[in-house]
Amino acid sequence: MTKVEAETLVGKALVRPHGLVREELAAVVSNTDAEAAEVLRAAAYELKCRHSGKVVSMRGLVELGNVCAKDCFYCGIRRSNVNVDRYRLSVDEVERLAEANARFGYASIVLQGGEVEAEANTEFVEECLRRIRRFDLGVTLSLGEQDEDVYRRWKEAGASRYLLRIETSSSRLYSSLHPPSHSFERRVECLRALRRCGYQVGTGTMSALPGQTPEDLADDILFFAAIDADMIGMGPYIPHPDTPLAAVAGGISAEDRIRVALNMITATRLHLHDVNIAATTALQALAHDGRERGILAGANVMMPNITDVKYRRNYQLYAGKPCLDENASLCRGCLERRLAAIGERVNYGSRGDSPHFFARTAR
Ligand code: 5AD
Ligand code: FES
Repeated sequence: MTKVEAETLVGKALVRPHGLVREELAAVVSNTDAEAAEVLRAAAYELKCRHSGKVVSMRGLVELGNVCAKDCFYCGIRRSNVNVDRYRLSVDEVERLAEANARFGYASIVLQGGEVEAEANTEFVEECLRRIRRFDLGVTLSLGEQDEDVYRRWKEAGASRYLLRIETSSSRLYSSLHPPSHSFERRVECLRALRRCGYQVGTGTMSALPGQTPEDLADDILFFAAIDADMIGMGPYIPHPDTPLAAVAGGISAEDRIRVALNMITATRLHLHDVNIAATTALQALAHDGRERGILAGANVMMPNITDVKYRRNYQLYAGKPCLDENASLCRGCLERRLAAIGERVNYGSRGDSPHFFARTAR
């Protein structure tokens, strides 16, 4: 794309949300021109600032456990990977982490873990949610596909947001990334169930996947618009050596993976305007300043890991996970400095709810 084409496109995108068509989204996502990229990113950053200011909202990420029933071809903690030591935190550990999270001034927390559909797990999560209520945090869950009544029970126990990435909105690609037992339709149905339960709903996709086209990525953004998502978490796919997809995933450089991931953030901000978008850790796995670049490309949320360092090696979804040895307090100072360097600051004490959620529930 040329700089002039980028300026014309941005002119349309800034006027109203949902202002771009599929071809334009595909052009943003596949852009390699440095001058055009600057124009596009500056406009996405302007929209980020318009809707959430020059601040970044933090959610401490707790990796609850790595036991997972799923066998996704790309993921390092897939069921078939026997090289992983499986763990699950105790309710006491979760409570202690939530307390530390509150002490850090992070007003929101994410409880993420492998997918387990079992009554014992449902109750464990309920118990965690009840125990951490007293810290008055915005609580996000990211625990995969569940029945609607499980989502409802967790909501009643204190969760207000749920992240469930669709991974890719292309059912063709989806079936090339998962065994036949994993159903694209059920995942979409889970997103609908989460909406019915009243959650702020987050979804997202991976970019730079083998076989993925710019049009597939444009369709991902149109999917976010169609399900009216409140929060988006996206990142570059990064091969993990112990997974089947790694064998077919070569050929894309780290810089290319970052570029397309940043382009996705920019295109999503330009199209959706007021959603929360995370600058995900996978960006930082590929470049030391990956997450700051994510903010400058239009993201407004970060999820620093607060899990005890001793567990972090057992929760490696992809190769090169950063901060394996830095504890939560080190990361807190590090992120503060990194944000200050780009003229942003941490939105301490604020839950950083999705502006889109309030806009849509008010109408
Ligand atoms: N590279 C990048 N992201 C990955 N995820 C899982 N495996 C990988 C990988 N190899 C992402 C998925 C999942 C989220 C928790 O992590 O999108 O939803
Ligand atoms: Fe963890 Fe910088 S964010 S060390």
